[in-house]
Amino acid sequence: MKVLIVGSGGREHAIAWAVAQSPRVEKIYCAPGNAGIAEYAECVNIGAMEFDALVAFAKEHDIDLTIIGMDDPLVGGVVDAFEAEGLRVFGPRKNAAIIEGSKAFSKDLMKKYNIPTAAYETFTDPKEAIAYLETAKMPIVLKADGLALGKGVLICNTLEEAKEGVKTLMLDKQFGDAGDEIVIEEFMTGREVSVLAFCDGKTIKCMTSAQDHKRAKDGDKGLNTGGMGTFSPSPFYTKEVEDFCEKHVYQPTIDAMAAEGRPFTGILFTGLMLTEDGPKVLEYNARFGDPEAQVVLPRMKNDITEVMEACIDGKLNDINLEFEDNAAVCVVLASDGYPEKYDKGFEIKGLDTFKEKEGYYVFHAGTKFHDGKIVTNGGRVLGVVAKGNDLKEARANAYKATDWIDFENKYKRNDIGKAIDEA
Ligand SMILES: Nc1ncnc2c1ncn2[C@@H]1O[C@H](COP(=O)(O)OP(=O)(O)O)[C@@H](O)[C@H]1O
Ligand SMILES: [Mg+2]
Repeated sequence: MKVLIVGSGGREHAIAWAVAQSPRVEKIYCAPGNAGIAEYAECVNIGAMEFDALVAFAKEHDIDLTIIGMDDPLVGGVVDAFEAEGLRVFGPRKNAAIIEGSKAFSKDLMKKYNIPTAAYETFTDPKEAIAYLETAKMPIVLKADGLALGKGVLICNTLEEAKEGVKTLMLDKQFGDAGDEIVIEEFMTGREVSVLAFCDGKTIKCMTSAQDHKRAKDGDKGLNTGGMGTFSPSPFYTKEVEDFCEKHVYQPTIDAMAAEGRPFTGILFTGLMLTEDGPKVLEYNARFGDPEAQVVLPRMKNDITEVMEACIDGKLNDINLEFEDNAAVCVVLASDGYPEKYDKGFEIKGLDTFKEKEGYYVFHAGTKFHDGKIVTNGGRVLGVVAKGNDLKEARANAYKATDWIDFENKYKRNDIGKAIDEA
């Protein structure tokens, strides 16, 4: 079969790697792709939001399966555009991707169907939001309703900060229309876990758990980033937590979406906080996490194309989803200065070392070809991933492998997976 992957980051590289493992696949294309993805796929210069061009490409090249990696095209309705032309595509339709595209929608869904989440109110009027804050308990959390590149959530410790936050989101419109509506919710504490799951509209099958590290600096200091590293599985995602979520979160969410006339097909990413009162949903995403995919997919035993086709055909129940009984850690190598100001265009050395090593992977996030060399081309440059028999071994392996790579302004966190020691 011929597969088209839409996206250009480390997540799409991990998806391309997984697709390339399938004996069913004869050809992979990626739009637009990057220098690492080019090892498995023919990269085509079409942007993820160019729906007409993507659909035309898929028709022209007899693509059997298109996989959408990113949130923006999903929320914008790319799946509907493919389906309208009778093309097979993996991902939720626009009316289901709203579970990520609108935080107000997802909170209202959880409230209506009794899915555990933080208490909240939604506001479209900044005056009403401020009046509410004046009576609310601090700290408090403000969330822009729409997609905001992972920057639309403000944790406010004081009333002053919260009022300033309303101004940032609703009046100054720092995230554009995404801030036309905001969610104000109760501040929770606890460990965070991400659980990715395949869905076919009625059945949901969870993958192994993972944990991300969003802040730029060691000790969870510094600014929020796209993600500086992950580990999988999470030792805090115990059988007890899993059983609770199976019963109260995952299937209820899929059933709720179906009941609303918005059947969810694709990857449902549930961000959980393990609070003293039990697990609560922080948010949903409608696609693989990045860099969660990088630690989850290398541990998956199934042929990813078979699982995705089962989702499209409503036959996920027939699939026995299996993961290796080991662990993986991803350490992101970034450009120093990320997520603010940084230089790019530096030659990356040492990539070939990974080709000879079993259980080690280097997924490209921001790279490109220049004069026959691979150079840095973004804030997050590479995700270095290693497996191990357990989390500690995987972490030691991943950090060892970060030394195989060299580029001029290489930056990484040194404490990815530190939480493992507290398990
Ligand atoms: N109610 C909350 N209490 C405490 N922390 C929160 C709460 N909601 C979100 N956060 C923190 O903010 C981060 C981002 O929020 P999230 O809802 O996942 O939005 P997004 O990923 O779209 O930015 C979470 O991973 C968590 O660390
Ligand atoms: Mg999140």
